[in-house]
Amino acid sequence: MSHTPDRIAHRMDYPPATEQPNVYPLSWNARTAKMEEIWDASQRDYWDPKKLPWDSFDPSRYSWEERESIAYWWTLLSVFDASAPPVFAEALIKTYEVHEEDPVRRCFFSVTRDEQNHEQMCGLAITRLLEHPDPLTYEPKTGLGRKLKRNAAWLYYNGGRYWTGYKKAVPKYSLAVLFSSFLMGEIAAATIFHQMAAGCTEPVFREAFRNIGRDEGRHMAICMALMERDYPTLPPADQAVITKQVRAGYLFLSAVLFEPPVEFWDLPEDFIAVQRESEAVARKAGFHIPAYEAKLENWRNAMLNLKGVLDRYGIPFPAIPEVGITGQEIRDIDMEDIIPVF
Ligand SMILES: [Fe+2]
Ligand SMILES: [Fe+2]
Repeated sequence: MSHTPDRIAHRMDYPPATEQPNVYPLSWNARTAKMEEIWDASQRDYWDPKKLPWDSFDPSRYSWEERESIAYWWTLLSVFDASAPPVFAEALIKTYEVHEEDPVRRCFFSVTRDEQNHEQMCGLAITRLLEHPDPLTYEPKTGLGRKLKRNAAWLYYNGGRYWTGYKKAVPKYSLAVLFSSFLMGEIAAATIFHQMAAGCTEPVFREAFRNIGRDEGRHMAICMALMERDYPTLPPADQAVITKQVRAGYLFLSAVLFEPPVEFWDLPEDFIAVQRESEAVARKAGFHIPAYEAKLENWRNAMLNLKGVLDRYGIPFPAIPEVGITGQEIRDIDMEDIIPVF
């Protein structure tokens, strides 16, 4: 017979309190009405990547160079979107551990589910374009494709460095701090998908971008609602962490929204030139990746939006000279410091 722990029920009327944090809330409190609205919207907006108009998509209409270039963009997106499901699943567990309100737990569940959809979408696009389910082991058909495969390997290597840091950060920080980093990613994501949807000629991609953009808009609203709830009583020590996270988020997310900053992303010298070459090919084929100036402008606007939010709560914004934003100087950021996700 297995050893039974000390039995206590015969000694007391009520059991002792359960030690916290404990993953097991037995309560369904609801204080933030906005969260309930967003949850309802997520149920209404739910979509299935498999049910997009894939019948209308004929990859053979594109040259191999075009296919490899468009698949590369989806690969770049996957570096962020394929890490999002586990990242948000981890955050979902945290909402249970800290016994967050019921609608907050459900909102986080919806983000995890949405991000899983975004990841599926990346996989469906890449697999059809390359006729292979994995850009890292794919056998390239063109010279550009060979260079893009190497770029993809370097992106994957860099993205992989942030997971251990993230796992350490989740228990360390309050949800208010985590949310400021998430917001960064969501603003960025909502921006890029709306742009991509507006200019894309391929129906299946256009519809996917529209759906993903709508999801990201909801994720942004979740972050905003949480911040409105928690920021008025934010401890001062958390403010400094948030300022640093915004700078870290800028460096991390620039890889997909702008161009990867060399001091942070460890990449070969020709990386950006190769990426630009593929973007030009994809753009010409009707896959609308914004050009350098448009990316710069959009990224700058996204940062200014975020600055507007943080200003409201008196949280200092970091300097982002790359897009012409002055602020607090933040140095020495490493992949280990990163919380932001897409
Ligand atoms: Fe996403
Ligand atoms: Fe998102």
